[in-house]
Amino acid sequence: MRTIDRGRLQSLMEREQKKFVAERPKSAALFERARKSLLGGVPMNWMAKWAGAFPPFVREARGSEFFDVDGNRYVDFCLGDTGAMTGHSPSATVAAVEQQARRGITLMLPSEDSIAVGEELQKRFGLPYWQFTLTATDANRFSIRLARHITGRPKILVFNWCYHGTVDESFITLKDGVAQARRGNIGPPVDPTVTTRVVEFNDVDALEAALKDEQVACVLAEPALTNVGIVLPDPGYHKALREITRKYGTLLIIDETHTICAGPGGYTRAEHLEPDFLVFGKPIGGGVPGATYGFTQEVGECILAKHNLEDCDTGGIGGTLAGNALSLAAMRATLQKVLTPEAFARMIPMAERWTDGVARAIAEYQLPWNVTRLGCRAEYLFSPNTSRNGTEAHDAMDFELERFMHLYAMNRGILLTPFHNMALMSPVTSAEDVDLHTKVFREAAKELVG
Ligand SMILES: Cc1ncc(COP(=O)(O)O)c(C=O)c1O
Repeated sequence: MRTIDRGRLQSLMEREQKKFVAERPKSAALFERARKSLLGGVPMNWMAKWAGAFPPFVREARGSEFFDVDGNRYVDFCLGDTGAMTGHSPSATVAAVEQQARRGITLMLPSEDSIAVGEELQKRFGLPYWQFTLTATDANRFSIRLARHITGRPKILVFNWCYHGTVDESFITLKDGVAQARRGNIGPPVDPTVTTRVVEFNDVDALEAALKDEQVACVLAEPALTNVGIVLPDPGYHKALREITRKYGTLLIIDETHTICAGPGGYTRAEHLEPDFLVFGKPIGGGVPGATYGFTQEVGECILAKHNLEDCDTGGIGGTLAGNALSLAAMRATLQKVLTPEAFARMIPMAERWTDGVARAIAEYQLPWNVTRLGCRAEYLFSPNTSRNGTEAHDAMDFELERFMHLYAMNRGILLTPFHNMALMSPVTSAEDVDLHTKVFREAAKELVG
């Protein structure tokens, strides 16, 4: 196994930064202009995280590729960090959006599309009732509120190094086994150690110990962690999670926003999970904002039994634009015509091809790295072994190396997520797209080892 020479890494990074800037004069000029009206020159704070000196400004995206304003082409494996997992602007979604945009965008009244989407979600995930929000963050937040409302319990439980959007309660990590606010937590309304318990993924004993006193309303879980590399559940872990949550009367919220990569019904359907709530956001509308949360008959009845008509608009679950006609038209078309079982049958083999290519290069250059896949999503991590929990995965992250790999890839027409080393396949990602990544990854590995 080789170690990476940090001096070499730094000089390669400097070379790549110069190349990045030299090849993007129009993006550079737009960035300078943007700095005068947008804080940090970007419309959202995390867009500052791209590995280049500035983000490439996009001219046009379609399918699995996009072009920046300087005419550089990129194969897009980031796909809007799953928001565009459908491929950019899928034609069925665009047609539905165009049609709906002409006949009303937001009404505060239901359209027939909402029923079609609810019925489609029932079939996919096996849960009877559905509600809509604009973001997966909100779908998680509302599920948590409802779980507290139903159980009358104050706390929630999450897994170490999870990410579920900007859910206040979830910004908590373990340091040497002690819970504390996650690094970088901006202006928390309440110390998350007051609201939340946190345990390692795949640790059944810790889970049971945390739920035993029956103070925890819900566990909010991704079925496999996807935001700190990919951490897969041990065999039998989900069975234990469900048994323990049921034993102590804790509701189980499964967040499928990323793990929808496992198949048309997400990890839940692929592995026969039985959540009380299920959350699905990001690609549900093909890139048009929208998300959903579904729940069981029992949960639905509890919610209705506690429903208060007079105050239901100001009870903490809302959103003026939630359930709008445009989002629902986009969701209907995306679910029925884009994220179909046939699409997954193309996407998953592409991710296998991507993973094989990366694994071959890792072996060829004897790098102490590994690559993991879940459905049509794959990710490499800077550790020789796959991770069993958030701590192991987080310890394997290497910000400097990650930035180099991302910048090297961008300079050669490949986009990965800016947050870690994730690649996602869309229904139109081709073998050529994947092979380009393999070639570029192999070249980066070769240069790194010298
Ligand atoms: C698993 C998971 N759930 C929820 C979210 C939140 O999605 P959004 O930012 O669209 O609200 C994310 C965002 O990355 C996520 O990874």
